[in-house]
Amino acid sequence: MERRTIGAAALEVGAVGLGCMPMSWAYSASRQDGETSLRAVHTALDLGTSLLDTADMYGPFTNELLVGRVLKERRGDVFVSTKVGLLVGEQHLVANGRPGYVRRACDASLRRLQADVIDLYQLHRADPEIPVEETWGAMAELVTAGKVRALGLCAVGARAGRRAGAQMHDETLRQLRSVQQVFPVSCVQAELSVWSPEALDALLPWCAARGVGFLAAMPLGNGFLTGSLKPGQGFEPDDVRARHPRFTADMMAANQPIVAGLRRVAERHSATPAQVALAWVLARGPHVVPVPGAKRGRWTAENAGASTLRLAPEDFAEIATLPAAQGSWD
Ligand SMILES: NC(=O)c1ccc[n+]([C@@H]2O[C@H](COP(=O)([O-])OP(=O)(O)OC[C@H]3O[C@@H](n4cnc5c(N)ncnc54)[C@H](OP(=O)(O)O)[C@@H]3O)[C@@H](O)[C@H]2O)c1
Repeated sequence: MERRTIGAAALEVGAVGLGCMPMSWAYSASRQDGETSLRAVHTALDLGTSLLDTADMYGPFTNELLVGRVLKERRGDVFVSTKVGLLVGEQHLVANGRPGYVRRACDASLRRLQADVIDLYQLHRADPEIPVEETWGAMAELVTAGKVRALGLCAVGARAGRRAGAQMHDETLRQLRSVQQVFPVSCVQAELSVWSPEALDALLPWCAARGVGFLAAMPLGNGFLTGSLKPGQGFEPDDVRARHPRFTADMMAANQPIVAGLRRVAERHSATPAQVALAWVLARGPHVVPVPGAKRGRWTAENAGASTLRLAPEDFAEIATLPAAQGSWD
């Protein structure tokens, strides 16, 4: 698999990463199965994927434990990226950016991951109660202490946190400018896919101009862009898509032309819609690494295969003419 470098420290990873979240969190809990997921991770690593993206809150904690089982066996094959600063509360998710908490959380992640060092430590959400520079300062100390190799900032919550009239990533860019004064940002993680292209406007160029890597979260549109979901199929109550405005039966039906377009392009390359969706993300720049989430080997193999798919100018032109996604959080 092609290798990509992220951040000023030139961290090398396989071009297609693996999002481990669906193995323990957010998607169809009744189909989560640790042994199947472990096999899926090994399949991805065998095919050249190296970046495994997890977080302490996935599970909570069980996803890091799962990744830890892989790290114990194959530390040399894995670039492990995890996250701090978001906890599962009784009613909703709670941010915690207190320096003391960050220090304790890092030690706990290292124990669960059975590792001496975390390759990329990402701030999952900025805590509105704590200046982001303070949280980032505590994370920087972890680099100095040798517990963490590089720091990243997640901007996946930007959609919900946006002020009226502001562009989606205005606040992310403000945070990035602030934390950059404290310690270099190696990587930004935000949603980027054919049906959620907002990061292309300002965030991706900001990263490109500074040699900062970009992890594309939800590159498969929470599975929709793969064409494997049917309008009205329904989702388990704890599946994020049960409350997602683009996953009502009406919106899934309204957005079918997007999948149909990806399928047309895929047929020209003997590929799948998922691979086309990932190739589109990969083509956004050499600093971009998609982290498709999956919990079975069939998907991790298919997704790794996207690294060799080169779309032609007419493919990009066709994708550019697809309708904008319907169904919004706003
Ligand atoms: N920083 C943050 O706040 C944040 C937020 C969200 C996500 N993320 C990261 O981004 C990663 C990716 O996002 P995501 O997992 O939410 O969404 P995604 O990658 O867009 O889609 C994941 C879904 O697609 C399905 N899938 C994967 N490959 C497939 C294929 N080839 N064919 C058919 N279906 C396929 C998976 O099914 P199965 O579940 O059946 O395997 C899963 O339900 C996460 O795992 C996580 O690491 C970060």
